[in-house]
Amino acid sequence: MSDSDTISTSIPDMGAAYHDPLVQDAGHGLTGPGGALHRYAIRPEGYRLGDEDFITGSWRLRRQPRYTRAEHGRWRLLFENQRRMLPDRACKDFMTGFGRLEHLFRDGIPSFDDINAILEPATGWTVVPAPELIPDNIFFWHLENRRFPAGAFIRGGQPQTPKVIRANKGCAPEHVEYTAVEDDLFYLQEPDIFHDIFGHTPMLMNPFFADYIQAYGAGGRRAITFNRLKNFGAIYWYTVEFGLIEEEGALRVYGAGILSSPDETLFSLYSDSPHRIRMTPERVMRTDYVISDFQDTYFVVDSIKALYESTAGRDFTPIYEKLPAGFTYATTALLDTDVVVTEGRQVYKFCGGKGRPRARVHMEKLRAAHAR
Ligand SMILES: [Fe+2]
Repeated sequence: MSDSDTISTSIPDMGAAYHDPLVQDAGHGLTGPGGALHRYAIRPEGYRLGDEDFITGSWRLRRQPRYTRAEHGRWRLLFENQRRMLPDRACKDFMTGFGRLEHLFRDGIPSFDDINAILEPATGWTVVPAPELIPDNIFFWHLENRRFPAGAFIRGGQPQTPKVIRANKGCAPEHVEYTAVEDDLFYLQEPDIFHDIFGHTPMLMNPFFADYIQAYGAGGRRAITFNRLKNFGAIYWYTVEFGLIEEEGALRVYGAGILSSPDETLFSLYSDSPHRIRMTPERVMRTDYVISDFQDTYFVVDSIKALYESTAGRDFTPIYEKLPAGFTYATTALLDTDVVVTEGRQVYKFCGGKGRPRARVHMEKLRAAHAR
């Protein structure tokens, strides 16, 4: 699709309800994970955008920025590290899509045009460069039109932790040692180009998943009408970002948030801490989620086709009419009505999570047991 085609399609009016701040907090908009608070924190030095770089009214960029050698290097480090994690952990559909795109990912940050040359003929989707997390209504509008807004920047350009600052003292950004920024590299609050491209595009090659995400975008407006955007956002969170799938009796990952994080790949599949529960939209829409650490609960689907049919093919009106605004269930809840795949001990959660000594030991054991 050319820029002029895009500009001629106007962003739909989401109605007065959209401007209610309670409605906007859907989990992946400006107030969502890593939203406004963090969005300028990790911009690489020299990454400056002018008005001329934006396509008017669509929150997307005309083109990808020019990346430095260090930025391509950071991509390669992330790619090599995460590619090793995938076999027997990522689901078959992810691996199939990944296999078609992988050659574009090997040598550094890939070009969106190259990706689209494969993606668009396969499922009609394109990836478009976005400067940062974009508002929900614009995000939905792009999805509805089979455009996936992908962050154009890569993480780690201005590492801020004391360890990293010490290690790189006096270095120009393009000479920052990648190993020294690992603390920042492998944990991310805001989706960047690695998360969006490596994590999301392989599944967009799957026809059912491609339709599922488009239908999700189309459903956004209805959720806003019913003031249930937060609940609706939980579906995206627990499926597209953090979804597990059962394949031939084994758990595999299809969620992009997991598959772009080496530690969460291990945690979601092998840790005895989180619950794993069969996914139903009603349960998911009532369940809170974690935005700054691993999930306390993962939801499991039987197949991508079943996921599509249980959500995209359904009218949520009867659910919205019964659903209270906001979440009913805590992230660690387990209900009598749940179909439990594994009941977690929640040891990671209850020791305080990320950064706590017992959480570190928990992850060190997982890494050692499943090292490749
Ligand atoms: Fe994502």
